[in-house]
Amino acid sequence: MANKLKVAIVGCGSIADGAHLSNYEKNDGIEIVALCDIDTTRFDYLKGKYKCCANAYTTTDYKDIAKDENVDAVDICTPNYLHSIVAIEMLNAGKHVLTEKPDAMTAKEVEAMRDAADKNGRVLMAMRNNRFTPAAIHLKKMIDNGECGEIYNARCAWVRKRGVPKPGSWFAKKAESGGGPLIDLGVHMIDLAMYLMGNPKPVSVTGTTFNKFNNNHDYTFDVEDMATGYIKFDNGASLALEFSWESNIISDTRYVELRGTKAGAIIENDDLRLFIERHGTMCDEYPHPRGSWGHDGAIRHFADVVQNGTDPIFTPQQGINMIKILNAIYESAETGKEVLL
Ligand SMILES: NC(=O)c1ccc[n+]([C@@H]2O[C@H](COP(=O)([O-])OP(=O)(O)OC[C@H]3O[C@@H](n4cnc5c(N)ncnc54)[C@H](O)[C@@H]3O)[C@@H](O)[C@H]2O)c1
Repeated sequence: MANKLKVAIVGCGSIADGAHLSNYEKNDGIEIVALCDIDTTRFDYLKGKYKCCANAYTTTDYKDIAKDENVDAVDICTPNYLHSIVAIEMLNAGKHVLTEKPDAMTAKEVEAMRDAADKNGRVLMAMRNNRFTPAAIHLKKMIDNGECGEIYNARCAWVRKRGVPKPGSWFAKKAESGGGPLIDLGVHMIDLAMYLMGNPKPVSVTGTTFNKFNNNHDYTFDVEDMATGYIKFDNGASLALEFSWESNIISDTRYVELRGTKAGAIIENDDLRLFIERHGTMCDEYPHPRGSWGHDGAIRHFADVVQNGTDPIFTPQQGINMIKILNAIYESAETGKEVLL
């Protein structure tokens, strides 16, 4: 068997626990060699919980990991403002980097991450777990096979009635998160829509943001509670979007809906539905791919790219395009004008 990929985790909070280590635990090709968090209770907890961490050393300073020649790759699960800082340090130290979403808070930061990866010849990937859900994999195969025709329009959303993540934490502090539901949830669904549309180049964006629920909060909340927007692409396609942590709606939902010339499709929560004309009749079809959040597939793919040179399905340029879109929606919301990309 090939050498195991030696991975260090920086940031041992909820996602490192629930979606990263829970999958590393099942992956024989990966060894967890170090855990880093400024909160020692977090790495102590994870070491006790996961067999794959039993031999890992712990540190409160991520620079220790940059200096450790035994580490091949670093998985960054910190608050958003640290993604670019830690990634650039690790790439310059010769490590491959997988970072949680959003890639970073600004497009400039993501460009600097891409430049560090290129300069050091290392793999840089941002978590795109929604590309790896069974529904997304199935639909992508159909689209690539031409079964949906040309995808010319899409809508995506992730809306919650009352769903501020970890109230009182860094999530609602703009300086640490970069924004509210747009940057937190938007990155998932906009990416999935664009991936399924064939990653067209965004050319212009309009957006609106709202902050209508601040009376509900007794903690710092200086981000939007809802964002809407509209993206136009260079191939003439368009994408409408809507994200909320708090809004008065019928129910929480997340979806990507595509209009294709041969078939339409929607992935809503974990379900896939197709809308297609067969023998003169419009039919709804319900394929049944079932499964996970997609972190397992995303982590396996990262390891495969690093170890076997497999073509990555995510490129840093796609990350730059994504964060440019998010930044432009915020800019458009402030200026009231369309932003050209
Ligand atoms: N892909 C997904 O589905 C998904 C879901 C949730 C969160 N996330 C992303 O994962 C990241 C972490 O989110 P979370 O919910 O786990 O947050 P969290 O607050 O639970 O965890 C963050 C951890 O980072 C640690 N940390 C802070 N500063 C540090 C530093 N300088 N060095 C080392 N560790 C440090 C904190 O102590 C904390 O334990 C965020 O970027 C978030 O957007 C992704």
